[in-house]
Amino acid sequence: MKDLVFSGIQPTHELHIGNYIAALKQWAELQHKKCCFFCIVDLHAITVPQDPKKLRANILEAAAVYLAAGIDPTKCSIYIQSEVAEHTELAWILGTIGKVSELERMTQFKDKSKKQTQGVSAGLFTYPILMAADILLYDANQVPVGEDQMQHLELARVIARRFNERFGETFTIPQPLIQKVGARIMSLQDPEKKMSKSDPAESSKILLSDKPEIIRKKIMRAVTDTEGSVHFDPEKKPAVSNLMTLYHHTSGLSLKEIESEFKGKGYGDFKKALAEAVIAELSPIREKIESYRSNSSELERILDEGRDTAKEIAARKMKLVRERVGLGRA
Ligand code: TYM
Repeated sequence: MKDLVFSGIQPTHELHIGNYIAALKQWAELQHKKCCFFCIVDLHAITVPQDPKKLRANILEAAAVYLAAGIDPTKCSIYIQSEVAEHTELAWILGTIGKVSELERMTQFKDKSKKQTQGVSAGLFTYPILMAADILLYDANQVPVGEDQMQHLELARVIARRFNERFGETFTIPQPLIQKVGARIMSLQDPEKKMSKSDPAESSKILLSDKPEIIRKKIMRAVTDTEGSVHFDPEKKPAVSNLMTLYHHTSGLSLKEIESEFKGKGYGDFKKALAEAVIAELSPIREKIESYRSNSSELERILDEGRDTAKEIAARKMKLVRERVGLGRA
């Protein structure tokens, strides 16, 4: 069986360098070797309140970002989750397989529900079930994500196995694909916190849309430690190790090579080099986002095509699932 890759990003806020390193950069490499589906998961986005006009704009913005990051629509399918209704149908069915006790253990649910001032939606609670549906619908066996999605992915595996045991072999068991270094990019202001799209502190994150002077400022202001040596040790030196991870992914140098490049030099020199490497990596993407965003007919065409390809596979799978579960009529 050919490997099938599925992944998605929520079209909320602007994407940052953590999303790029853990997801988009991996995706762009995978598309040359595998059959890939890259989804814009707008149904996940509405599990917390969204402004409808902004959400629609963010969906197209996300599509432009995918393309600008090198995701090639001739090699893979790029589409919008809500345009393939089978995702929600399968999510309902899988919701009868997953258990409340399993959902209650999800750390992302616990964290996100604390931030809701208007009450916690049932959708936020069942969010991981929809994510399982996204993946299982396509029999994806490889799912490139950051570390924060590992628990959700583990639940998707549990649900797939349970369904297969109850109704017969139906779903492929997915495997996570995680970057060895950089699966969890931390905030530039607090190395104990992951870099997050929704963090209101602008200086905590580098956005894909940041101009060079902003990137320089954010990196020069990033917290470090008092030791003054560029050395990789995530336990003892989390802030510097996080910056080294960014440098590793943007310069192509190994962690050892970075240590020897900056041996005997201070954090100032290191940060200057890091800023230039990040700018060199992200500037072409920022410029392309603009040009894809302004060519809306091309974006529409790519999203239509992606939807049609996804829909064909999803419809076939749902027919089998309904049959297995005994829904409707023969
Ligand atoms: P989302 O939109 O929060 O994040 C998109 C991707 O970026 C990764 N990520 C990070 N990686 C490293 N360091 C960080 N600080 C960081 N922040 C975010 C995430 O792990 C993710 O890979 N539930 C998912 C979207 C989703 C999905 C799916 C993913 C829905 N269905 C099916 C894979 C397969 C989410 O909210 O990602």
